[in-house]
Amino acid sequence: MAFTTRQIGPCFAAEASGLDLREPLSAHDVAAIHTAMDEHAVLVFHDQHLSDEQHLAFSRSLGALEDSSGTNLREADEYRLPTVFADVSNLDKNQQVLAVDDRRRLFAIGNRLWHSDSSFKIVPAKYSLLRALVIPSSGGNTEFADMRAAYDALDDETKAVAECLICEHSQIYSRLQLGFTDFTEVERERFKPVRQRLIREHPSTGRKSLFLASHAGRIVGWPTAEAMGLLKDLVEHATQRQFVYPHAWHVGDLVMWDNRRTMHRGRPFPVDQPRDVRRTTLVGDGPTAEQAD
Ligand SMILES: [Fe+2]
Repeated sequence: MAFTTRQIGPCFAAEASGLDLREPLSAHDVAAIHTAMDEHAVLVFHDQHLSDEQHLAFSRSLGALEDSSGTNLREADEYRLPTVFADVSNLDKNQQVLAVDDRRRLFAIGNRLWHSDSSFKIVPAKYSLLRALVIPSSGGNTEFADMRAAYDALDDETKAVAECLICEHSQIYSRLQLGFTDFTEVERERFKPVRQRLIREHPSTGRKSLFLASHAGRIVGWPTAEAMGLLKDLVEHATQRQFVYPHAWHVGDLVMWDNRRTMHRGRPFPVDQPRDVRRTTLVGDGPTAEQAD
């Protein structure tokens, strides 16, 4: 059976079938996946019951992977998974659900805000590949927003204003929106802001997208209140229902998305239930902006 895609909801999301991701991919399949990602931006693979090793092998066949060290509040000896995975679960290293008031859990609530993975890194992410092993009895959807369609729908005046703007992204800014300010000095240094263009061009398609995330907390040269006003307006615009695909997870799903032209957010679920989802992340193409000295 050949690799095929079928649009689901808005045109940037598609179901993919015809591949067993446990098996090595041919060069033809790899090229077909990249082409499908350029055409859509979110691909959903159902019934892929992968081991961690198979998840890694599939991811590496598409490109080099990020390391998740230092991107959360886990200490070095508290990681449940090798750091080539981003542990998006609510579990500690003993597979126990984190307590409601655990600061690692509270920090992770930042994933419920719209974002693009690793926009707080100088080189932001390319694709994310998230696989569901255990899901809660209700809630826990992931919603995706099409930032290319959102850019296209902006009026010309806003496009002109946004074109050359540079934003500062940090996980401290996204958590500030939640009232979470409980950072040590070491963490503040680790999470210091990086610069990203507000409008970016896709390297394969040449199409422009808004590059937004709740991690964006400043615009270079703008007063903070003015910057946040614009950023909130843009997020509100970009996440109107016509731009959004909500994914309801099934165990065995693997969802892959292009962070360069989408945002996403997790939705709440019962706090006492385990949710084990594991992400690999492809390294992006390069910085989108010059960094401050
Ligand atoms: Fe994410």
